[in-house]
Amino acid sequence: MNIAIVGYGRMGRAIEQIALERGHQVVLKIDAKDIDSIAKSDFNNVDVAIEFSTPESAFSNINLCIDNKIPVVSGTTGWLNRIEQVVERCKNEDATFFYASNYSLGVNLFFKINENLAKIMSKFSDYSIELEETHHIKKLDAPSGTAITLAEGIIKNNQKINTWKEEESTTFDSIPIVSKREGSVPGNHKVTYESDFDKIIIEHDAKSRKGFALGAVLAAEFIADKRGYFTMNDLLEI
Ligand SMILES: NC(=O)c1ccc[n+]([C@@H]2O[C@H](COP(=O)([O-])OP(=O)(O)OC[C@H]3O[C@@H](n4cnc5c(N)ncnc54)[C@H](O)[C@@H]3O)[C@@H](O)[C@H]2O)c1
Repeated sequence: MNIAIVGYGRMGRAIEQIALERGHQVVLKIDAKDIDSIAKSDFNNVDVAIEFSTPESAFSNINLCIDNKIPVVSGTTGWLNRIEQVVERCKNEDATFFYASNYSLGVNLFFKINENLAKIMSKFSDYSIELEETHHIKKLDAPSGTAITLAEGIIKNNQKINTWKEEESTTFDSIPIVSKREGSVPGNHKVTYESDFDKIIIEHDAKSRKGFALGAVLAAEFIADKRGYFTMNDLLEI
C-alpha cells in the first residue's frame, strides 16, 4: 500500500517504521509546515492516510483526506466533539474513516475487561470508582482519550453512574478522572474500585509507542478497500 502520514511527530515516525517493516511505502508525509502547500495532485498516488497530529488540526486534516477521496485512519485525541461530522460524511459521501482513541491490542482487551468488571461491580454500591491516567509531559490533552473511553465503558454498564469529572470527587454517581504528566511515560491507565475494606485495581501499562503504531497500520490495511466508519471492534472482532 502507498501510505500518507499526516502529522510526522513521535507517532508519525513510529508508524513509518512499522509500515516499512510490513512492506508498505510511505509516499507522502505532511507535518505542520507542509499543510498550506499541499496540492490535490500530491494525493494521486496515496491508497490510505494515517493521521496523528494535534487536537486543533485533526478535524481539518481528516476532512482534507476525505476531500481527496482517501480512506483515513486517525488516532489524534482531544477533538472528538466534532467526530460526528466526520461520521456523517462517511454516510453521505461514501467516505472511509477509522478512529480509535487507542490502537494498542492490549488496551482494547483492557476496554472489554473494564466493561465486564463494570457490569459485575454495578451490583455492589459500596465501592467508589476512580480512573487514573499517566502520560509523558508533552501530551497536550487531558484526560486522555483512553481514559474517557474507559469512563464511557463504565457508564454504559452501570445505571447508577451518569458522568465523569476531571477531578477527585467523592460522589458515587460520577467517575473522577485523575490525569498525571510524568517524564516519557507512553501511557498508563488504572481503574480502581474501593470500599471501606478493600480495593480492586485493573491496570494497563504501555511499554512503548510501537503497539499503537502497529494497530494504526493494521487499521489502514483493514480499511483500504472498504467504505464507511470503522473502529477497533470491527478490526479485532471483540
Ligand atoms: N490513538 C492512539 O492509539 C494514540 C497513541 C499515541 C498518541 N495518540 C495521539 O496522537 C496525537 C499525536 O501524538 P504524538 O505523540 O505523535 O505527538 P507529537 O507532538 O509528537 O506529533 C504531532 C505532530 O503533528 C504535527 N502537526 C501540528 N499541526 C499539524 C497540522 N496542521 N497538520 C499536520 N501535522 C501537524 C506537529 O508538528 C507534530 O510533528 C496526539 O493527539 C496523541 O494524544 C494517540
